[in-house]
Amino acid sequence: MTEKGPTPERPLVLVGAGKMGGALLAGWLDGGIPPDAIVVVEPSPAGDTARLLAEAGIATHASPPPDLTAGVVVLAIKPQIMGDALPALKSLVGPETTVLSIAAGTTLANLESGLGPAAIVRSIPNTPAQVGRGVTAAVANSRVGDGARGVVTQLLEAVGAVAWVEEEAMIDAVTAVSGSGPAYVFLFAECLTQAAVEAGLPRDVAERFARATVEGAGELLFRSELSPAELRKNVTSPNGTTAAALAVLMADDGLQPLVTRAVAAAKRRSEELSG
Ligand SMILES: NC(=O)c1ccc[n+]([C@@H]2O[C@H](COP(=O)([O-])OP(=O)(O)OC[C@H]3O[C@@H](n4cnc5c(N)ncnc54)[C@H](OP(=O)(O)O)[C@@H]3O)[C@@H](O)[C@H]2O)c1
Repeated sequence: MTEKGPTPERPLVLVGAGKMGGALLAGWLDGGIPPDAIVVVEPSPAGDTARLLAEAGIATHASPPPDLTAGVVVLAIKPQIMGDALPALKSLVGPETTVLSIAAGTTLANLESGLGPAAIVRSIPNTPAQVGRGVTAAVANSRVGDGARGVVTQLLEAVGAVAWVEEEAMIDAVTAVSGSGPAYVFLFAECLTQAAVEAGLPRDVAERFARATVEGAGELLFRSELSPAELRKNVTSPNGTTAAALAVLMADDGLQPLVTRAVAAAKRRSEELSG
């Protein structure tokens, strides 16, 4: 790929078109990357992604086509199979190729040992990427120049916001916050549902109201320039109902120590997996 974008001669090669690879692919096509500049390596395309690939006429291969050098290789396969898959992917990587991995827990060193000397970016997106509202942190090895950083930023921005970090160790903390974070919010919706049932609402009504509350609050946060604390204060009248609930949630043994412990546990697990 040139710094201007992928071309049929130096294509963008997506390895693994599952949930996250499929989301990236949809974002790239929406963003105007020409389908003939994209090659997909995926043994079993499924669902919406299979339809998208067929509609766009994108070449899809069960294994890397021989004699193809990529502009950018995007690794969107599971971390567990990365070690076994890398030797067969080496042929895609030339001196001008940038490799972008989105695999959780696979370090730059792991990728370098499987691919040899190459410009490699390790990134960690999150599931809201599936609706174009992800947030991705990225870290580059020393072979990645400014041009390649720009290209990778554009590719990742197709599914949301991007932030570069300079130290790879920060990826474990980012994984614990934004990578795993959507699950914390979904769990909150589940807990709010259960609390609503225990407060006397029928389960279907409880599910509807809890879900709509999390959706609406997230959207308000997205659209507002106010901080989360300001938004919270704006809906809290002194001595009112919200204040009564927040006195519980903000107590010394309330939500903060629980979330802090949860994020620390996720960070530790990320460190173990990358170890
Ligand atoms: N989902 C997330 O929220 C999230 C967030 C951050 C990072 N990630 C990272 O994104 C990566 C992909 O996750 P995912 O949730 O999208 O997984 P996924 O849905 O399982 O997608 C992986 C795809 O790769 C295919 N595949 C397996 N072996 C392959 C090979 N040798 N060459 C090419 N394709 C191959 C799989 O096919 P089969 O199903 O036939 O095996 C599957 O379609 C993971 O490394 C994960 O850590 C995901």
